[in-house]
Amino acid sequence: MERTIHSLEEMNRLAASLGGSCAGGEVVELIGDVGAGKTTFTKGFAEGLGVTDDVQSPSFTISRVYAARDGLELHHYDLYRLTEPGIVQYDVAESVQDSKVVTVIEWGGTVQGVLPAGRTTITFSYGEAETERHVKLQTDDTRLKEAYAAGG
Ligand SMILES: Nc1ncnc2c1ncn2[C@@H]1O[C@H](COP(=O)(O)OP(=O)(O)OP(=O)(O)O)[C@@H](O)[C@H]1O
Ligand SMILES: [Mg+2]
Repeated sequence: MERTIHSLEEMNRLAASLGGSCAGGEVVELIGDVGAGKTTFTKGFAEGLGVTDDVQSPSFTISRVYAARDGLELHHYDLYRLTEPGIVQYDVAESVQDSKVVTVIEWGGTVQGVLPAGRTTITFSYGEAETERHVKLQTDDTRLKEAYAAGG
């Protein structure tokens, strides 16, 4: 499924709708070039998950953990600077197996080996206008599919 998003606000609504549909255990890999909107999406997604803390780009820390609604946690990884899977892969492996955790990963190339085959992927690409983005969802998760179709 692919959609064209026309503004930051529309992206935020779509992301919040997807975050709102999560029940724990979801693994969402975000794919796209620098500046395509992965972290921006994560902020809106976190809002939908009831995260009240300010979501920041985890680039310098590799990952950040946020408390979310219903006893859930959002684990946000940005592995852009990771050149080998090392110990980080064990951390990721633990997150993706935890039913109380919703995992979002940017630049997950180095840890593909520990990502579940059934994960959701969202691919972002630039549109023609400055705030236009194409957002492609690949998932088997019915709740996420419905939220994607409805949100934004
Ligand atoms: N519709 C939109 N959706 C998302 N971001 C948008 C949109 N329109 C404009 N932007 C801008 O594009 C930039 C997206 O940056 P963001 O940090 O989210 O990208 P990223 O994919 O996480 O990049 P990186 O690979 O460096 O982590 C932000 O400055 C944001 O304000
Ligand atoms: Mg980012």
